[in-house]
Amino acid sequence: MRFEDIFVQIAPEEIPDNVFALVGKIFPVVTVGALGSHNSMVASGGGMGLLFRKPATWCVFPSKRYTLELIEKEQTYTLSFSPDEYREQFMFLGRESGRDGNKMEEVELTAIETPLHNTSFEEARLIVECSLMQITIPQVSDFYSEEAKKHLAEMYQDPGEIRKYVFGGIDAVWIDREKYGNV
Ligand SMILES: Cc1cc2nc3c(=O)[nH]c(=O)nc-3n(C[C@H](O)[C@H](O)[C@H](O)COP(=O)(O)O)c2cc1C
Repeated sequence: MRFEDIFVQIAPEEIPDNVFALVGKIFPVVTVGALGSHNSMVASGGGMGLLFRKPATWCVFPSKRYTLELIEKEQTYTLSFSPDEYREQFMFLGRESGRDGNKMEEVELTAIETPLHNTSFEEARLIVECSLMQITIPQVSDFYSEEAKKHLAEMYQDPGEIRKYVFGGIDAVWIDREKYGNV
């Protein structure tokens, strides 16, 4: 199917969902790479808002994450959000690494090229296309609340491991016409 037959473009401020539900309950699937050589993973930390007045997203990755390496190389990616009926298939992408397996061939989803030549899935109900804006490495000393300090200290217990905050400018937002009721 053609991308435009399934999806319609909306402005970032027209995203119909609550951002906390999108990020914390539905979970974004981050996909990097051209159709056919793409890799995807499930994310849970992150958000959407404005950075330097530009609509933006942010995600949190351990520095050795395969998908992060691909983001640093390709510098564009998509966040895809699943409808309830495909939740299991989307979550499958968070179970193993594309570095040493072929989860992209095993996953029961149909990959599709976006108009900006990124990759997402026909089954997605919302797609956010992003260009890498900034990668920031948080330090334990950057944090003030006890909860945040403890959380980061736990994450940094392995001396070879750091976290990276990845900010992406939003280039395009697409919603599934049918799943959102023929907007
Ligand atoms: C619900 C859920 C949330 C996750 N959130 C994140 C996250 O925010 N950041 C992250 O780097 N990994 C997160 N993961 C783990 C990755 O999705 C998982 O390790 C994945 O297999 C990595 O794929 P890759 O090695 O191909 O990059 C999450 C996994 C699940 C199931």
